[in-house]
Amino acid sequence: MASEKIILTGDRPTGRLHLGHYVGSLRRRVELQNEGDYKKMFVFIADAQALTDNIDNPEKVRQNVIEVALDYLSAGLDPEKVTLFIQSQIPELCELSFYFMDLVSVSRLQRNPTVKTEIKMRGFAGESIPVGFFTYPISQAADITAFKATTVPVGEDQQPMIEQATEIVRRFNNIYGPTLVEPQIMLPNNAVCCRLPGTDGKAKMSKSLGNCIYLSDSAKELKKKVNSMFTDPEHIHIEQPGHLEGNTVFTYLDAFSTDEDFSLFLPEYACLDELKAHYTRGGLGDGTCKKLLYNILNARLEPIRQRRAEWEKDIPAVYDILRRGTEDARAVAAQTLDEVRRAMKINYFDDADLIAEQAKRFKAGAK
Ligand code: TRP
Repeated sequence: MASEKIILTGDRPTGRLHLGHYVGSLRRRVELQNEGDYKKMFVFIADAQALTDNIDNPEKVRQNVIEVALDYLSAGLDPEKVTLFIQSQIPELCELSFYFMDLVSVSRLQRNPTVKTEIKMRGFAGESIPVGFFTYPISQAADITAFKATTVPVGEDQQPMIEQATEIVRRFNNIYGPTLVEPQIMLPNNAVCCRLPGTDGKAKMSKSLGNCIYLSDSAKELKKKVNSMFTDPEHIHIEQPGHLEGNTVFTYLDAFSTDEDFSLFLPEYACLDELKAHYTRGGLGDGTCKKLLYNILNARLEPIRQRRAEWEKDIPAVYDILRRGTEDARAVAAQTLDEVRRAMKINYFDDADLIAEQAKRFKAGAK
């Protein structure tokens, strides 16, 4: 039997995608796409969500829609297999969000840990937080449920969003009858991939910290960034024992290296464990490890760069892909919204029975 899985995920277009996105989700999406174990797969650009906290910067969002689309295509997402679309072009998502707002309390939103941290990060004082930003978990629930997604591959920071979506689905189905589908989160398959640190060793790659390696970085930029990466500040001389804990070069090697990489780039060691043993014993310099990491990352990024260069030559074709994907996605969302309106009893014009029944009742002189 064909798989019934409907996979859906997306990104905010606030910058080019980086290695954190790649190990955290993009790489997995391409694998899922190629395994083909799904009925439908959607990957979308969450521009409306990006606007919730970039209200005064529409141009940034607009420019990054194409950057993210290029990153998707160059990372290997295939528009023949995956529906790529732009969130804001699907008005059904706004409609569904509006209905969902009846099902969620202010206190429930305030308890959403991701929203809590983001409110703190952005320094919104008291109640000055924009309503649209505060309620974006509701709109995210609409993104997921409008397509009846069963499987949502995202990073662990998105767990509260999926939980909130699940609650909304349960509440909706309880009140209006079974209509929507409960989504399941699909987390990255190992801990390193959940949160790749920045090149400076800080907890997360983030554009504002300037510690990202972008998928679109050139080999030269990559080399510079790898060479300046945070390692072990106590490892000053080669002969000293080095520490792996918090050593970003090794964290990246954990996330990216395979045994084949060793035979290709550093055959003196069979695998990462051997390299780690030498490093902690002493006698292995950071330079050697960085050179290995550069070679591995460059091997991963080179095909992505080449595909990007091709797509960059035909931007109108990229917009055509997005337009077609958006049309396709909109048809699916429209179907769900028909079912939602019917369940909510607001499908007046499509309900011949309703009209006939009321006509009869009024004719009979009932109230
Ligand atoms: N909030 C997600 C992020 O910041 C983006 C997103 C919006 C999303 N809607 C979604 C992800 C629906 C998965 C499903 O990365």
